[in-house]
Amino acid sequence: MIKIAPSILSADFSKLGSDIEKLDKFGADFIHIDVMDGMFVPNISFGIPVIKSIKKITNIPFDVHLMIEEPSRYIEDFVEAGADIITVHFEADRHLDRTINYIKSFGVKASVALNPATPVDNIKYLIKNLDMVLVMSVNPGFGGQKYIDYSNYKIEEVKKLSDKYNKDLMIEVDGGVGRNNIKSVVKSGANVIVAGSAVFKDNKIKENIASLRGEI
Ligand code: DX5
Ligand code: ZN
Repeated sequence: MIKIAPSILSADFSKLGSDIEKLDKFGADFIHIDVMDGMFVPNISFGIPVIKSIKKITNIPFDVHLMIEEPSRYIEDFVEAGADIITVHFEADRHLDRTINYIKSFGVKASVALNPATPVDNIKYLIKNLDMVLVMSVNPGFGGQKYIDYSNYKIEEVKKLSDKYNKDLMIEVDGGVGRNNIKSVVKSGANVIVAGSAVFKDNKIKENIASLRGEI
């Protein structure tokens, strides 16, 4: 089953609660939460207190994408705030193997994100121990960017590693996915699809989720 993970970076923060209730009602599989520190990426979003608040109003698993330097400093805080899956960036952590084990020690799922220019081979030895790999299909930092076409090859490479070493691996794709390309992204091997603008555009969450599913 393909999972849809709406990114609340594209939500209207003046009514975040009601947008989350809609995601709940209209069948989002995960809530994708983009945390940015203004250092790893050139943007600042939101953090631990916001996650804690919205955790009270939904049971949808929280897929927390940490676009922050040295994420190991804050893992425990994000677990306490309600993260169910934690993604750290390959490029942001010098001791990734240790951080993955640390995340898993809390009973939370562990995932590594790869920036567009980062080769898939870099996670070859980690893959058995991962619950998810996130393939960035835009340069991280902002919603609403264009899908980078070579990402499909990278997804295929992750799928090959997954078939060989970890059949249960979730393969997530993040950035620029919409109705026009979701099918090819899934065909390449992705099974968790992040969608920000494609879900929140025109304030039609219900219709947008349904039409994304309709394309798969
Ligand atoms: C980008 C974020 C994405 C982003 C996706 O740094 O990681 O999750 O919100 O937004 P869209 O789907 O609009 O590209
Ligand atoms: Zn993201």
